[in-house]
Amino acid sequence: MRIGIIGTGNMGRTLGGIWASAGHEVFFGARKPEIASEAEHLARAQATSAVGSGTNQQAAEFGDVLLYCPRAVDPQDVLCNASVLGGKVLIDLNNVAIPSGFRFETHSESLAEKLQRQAPDAVVAKAFNMLAQEVFGVDRAEREDKGVSVLIATDDPEARNLVEILARDLGLTPVNAGPLRNARLLESAADLVRYLIGGAGLGPLATLSVRALSPGSAKSLYGGRRASTLQTDEGHRNLPRGQPVEVESSGVIDASLESVWNLVSDFNSVARWHPDVTESRLESGKAREAGAVRLVHLRNGMAIRERLVAISPEDHFYKYAVIESPLPLREHESTVRFIPINESRTQVTWTARFEVIAGDAKAFGEAVKTGVLDLGIDGLRKAALG
Ligand SMILES: NC(=O)c1ccc[n+]([C@@H]2O[C@H](COP(=O)([O-])OP(=O)(O)OC[C@H]3O[C@@H](n4cnc5c(N)ncnc54)[C@H](OP(=O)(O)O)[C@@H]3O)[C@@H](O)[C@H]2O)c1
Repeated sequence: MRIGIIGTGNMGRTLGGIWASAGHEVFFGARKPEIASEAEHLARAQATSAVGSGTNQQAAEFGDVLLYCPRAVDPQDVLCNASVLGGKVLIDLNNVAIPSGFRFETHSESLAEKLQRQAPDAVVAKAFNMLAQEVFGVDRAEREDKGVSVLIATDDPEARNLVEILARDLGLTPVNAGPLRNARLLESAADLVRYLIGGAGLGPLATLSVRALSPGSAKSLYGGRRASTLQTDEGHRNLPRGQPVEVESSGVIDASLESVWNLVSDFNSVARWHPDVTESRLESGKAREAGAVRLVHLRNGMAIRERLVAISPEDHFYKYAVIESPLPLREHESTVRFIPINESRTQVTWTARFEVIAGDAKAFGEAVKTGVLDLGIDGLRKAALG
């Protein structure tokens, strides 16, 4: 493969070096040419194929597969022309900075999902974030013998195949960790590993190996697994699980991101722009802060209570959940996301996920899409014009 390293630091230098020794063509990119060229020289000593170095832009142009190491930096700020990422596999190995006392938080959006939004035409795969660089300093045979796992989360099967090959070339055992959304779990798992390394004192060679035990050894001496009657979550005791439904709608609004965001980021403003909402009342919290609860009344007289789950003024999205309604749904969560197209146009994407607990799930999903999402985006367009 042709591999470009974007941001040659500890991980880029190390993984790029091993991939070069496994016969891949590697190009190290960095802000300072001397840093990239040092990595090139170190790799050249072991390499069995061509190695080069230069700018991050050159690395991005060179590779079909790219390793992205600048943590939480928008590719637009790293590259002169980020459109070069289009169609390429972009491996994200980043983790959040270690907080003092290893007091990690859970992630409501992963760095990898954010990178995918920032580079929408690339194919992002989360991998290699759970292993300290020191792990690559031990004999390859040791990594292989211990079956050290590399968990891979991506939505693209071809990208998964490529990353699996690169993982094996590092002496690691690839594990399918599902879609890119699961990068949230992988980043939290890396936080756990880093706690074990630093907080619990196991040191940087601590690794995780995922092992499935042999089914032949399983005996159900104590009755086996039976259906549980435990409460599954708050307020939903013993409710049957419903049919999962996901709907999405998107559109373009002829207004700047700033003016649209100014309107929608007020959780209590919905009656001003959604044609089906006649009234919204803030019951608790602050209108622009996560945790706020609003009671909305619809044209048909129905009342729905909703909570603002998360809001990001930096990334221009908010998530909310229906917490009480006469509708046959549970586990609802909606995300409304805004991306600037140019100074006077904004793209909005609205997704809703929920379980339908009665009736025809497909028809109900369709009704939510047209009656809530499509109508809401239409209302936003009109509010922006007016
Ligand atoms: N090291 C590990 O053991 C390990 C293991 C798993 C995952 N990770 C994760 O992998 C990522 C990279 O870690 P690392 O140890 O390789 O870090 P590092 O040695 O500090 O390297 C980071 C690289 O990013 C570049 N960079 C930083 N800010 C930039 C910007 N604004 N524009 C362009 N380039 C920028 C740096 O370039 P300059 O040299 O020019 O500053 C450097 O090349 C982190 O997210 C880390 O959490 C690390």
